[in-house]
Amino acid sequence: MSVAAAMTAPGETPAIEPFPLRGRSLFAEGSRLSDLANRFGTPLYVYSRAALESAWRAFDDALAGVPHQVCFAVKANSNLGLLDALARLGSGFDIVSGGELERVLAAGGDPARVIFSGVGKSRDEMRMGLEAGIRSFNVESPSELARLAEVAHEAGRVAPVALRVNPDVDPKTHPYIATGLESSKFGIPIAQARDLYARGAGMPSLRMAGVGCHIGSQITSLEPFRDALARVVALIDELAGDGIEITEVDVGGGLGIRYRDETPPSPAEYAAVVRDALGGRPVTVFLEPGRSVCGNAGVLLARVEYIKDNGGHRFAIVDAAMNDFIRPALYGGWSRIEPCERRDGEGRAVYTVAGPVCESGDFLGRDRELDIREGDFVALRSAGAYGFVMSSNYNSRPRAAEVMVDGDRVHLVRRRERASELHALESRLP
Ligand code: LLP
Repeated sequence: MSVAAAMTAPGETPAIEPFPLRGRSLFAEGSRLSDLANRFGTPLYVYSRAALESAWRAFDDALAGVPHQVCFAVKANSNLGLLDALARLGSGFDIVSGGELERVLAAGGDPARVIFSGVGKSRDEMRMGLEAGIRSFNVESPSELARLAEVAHEAGRVAPVALRVNPDVDPKTHPYIATGLESSKFGIPIAQARDLYARGAGMPSLRMAGVGCHIGSQITSLEPFRDALARVVALIDELAGDGIEITEVDVGGGLGIRYRDETPPSPAEYAAVVRDALGGRPVTVFLEPGRSVCGNAGVLLARVEYIKDNGGHRFAIVDAAMNDFIRPALYGGWSRIEPCERRDGEGRAVYTVAGPVCESGDFLGRDRELDIREGDFVALRSAGAYGFVMSSNYNSRPRAAEVMVDGDRVHLVRRRERASELHALESRLP
């Protein structure tokens, strides 16, 4: 198996082309995508273990020499096989629910490397985290801090805490995924943080060790990170003056990826901003990348069921829909769509690629020039993050299967749902 490595600057981990075109066929490492589609059926998510691991390592390598822990954001892709692969590299995990904690533990993740984020932790979730012995709770409000102190006290434990501050920085991304603006529900306004640290420091069931921030997702320039970190570092210095020593800084996730023609900074460039901002302060750095680790390590395969012309508009109706991949419908997301097997180009036409769901918003791509026929397989790229995890059973569609390609081997890491399983938890009236 040879995985093409793209050109990179010296010292950077090479980016991997995980789904290369060889001859007329698209591959995932050693497997032809059309073979996988035939063998496992469609819709099918396909992940490349090599791409996943090289993206994770790019973050880990970029912070060599600085005490740090990369905590993969489980929300981006919570498949057990994928979490297992990352846990074996030594990854920690950023979770936002008890369900994600259970997944991390089931995948063999180390609870001592888990960070619990999120604005709405329940008492039960706090108890689960304390019992598992997680590394830190990222607390997002005064009420949450008080609740955590109570729950930890009842459990006879000391909860490790970082306050997630909201630095009021515009990440210049889609409004639904901007989280560090004053008007968003996330974090504690940075101006209120000092008071809250002082309050927390007086609570014996809490250990106020860290500060965190996460300003948004799919961020494609360094400025917002630089601005946010400058504010966080200023806070650390003020707290030191108050006698509160911060030993852990969680810089969040949010680094963008290339879907189309974006030019996001590399993990190495991003890490340089983190190093600069911290200026040698003796802290352990936590990172919570999600999309940038798994986004381009996955594709979604679909079969072209029908080709139809409606009033001069040409549609390719495929067997994957908005329930399988909601990013185009929800955020106007764009992902490259390509045939798994190339034809000669004679039949090129411009298509809306749409699914079987009964909504006009159900499309995977518009205005795509493709040479395809009914029965062909197509691959939608950059589907490894916020793909399967956001899928649903809308229209009573069983969710897709997922496979992980590893060199010449292929592992089915989630079998396809059966239609009968979709109503197995429901009952008729007595
Ligand atoms: N940490 C926290 C606290 C977060 O809220 C998030 C993402 C991350 C880390 C990971 O961010 P990433 O590195 O993946 O950008 N469904 C949307 C993205 C939602 C992101 C929510 N928070 C999408 O498909 O674009």
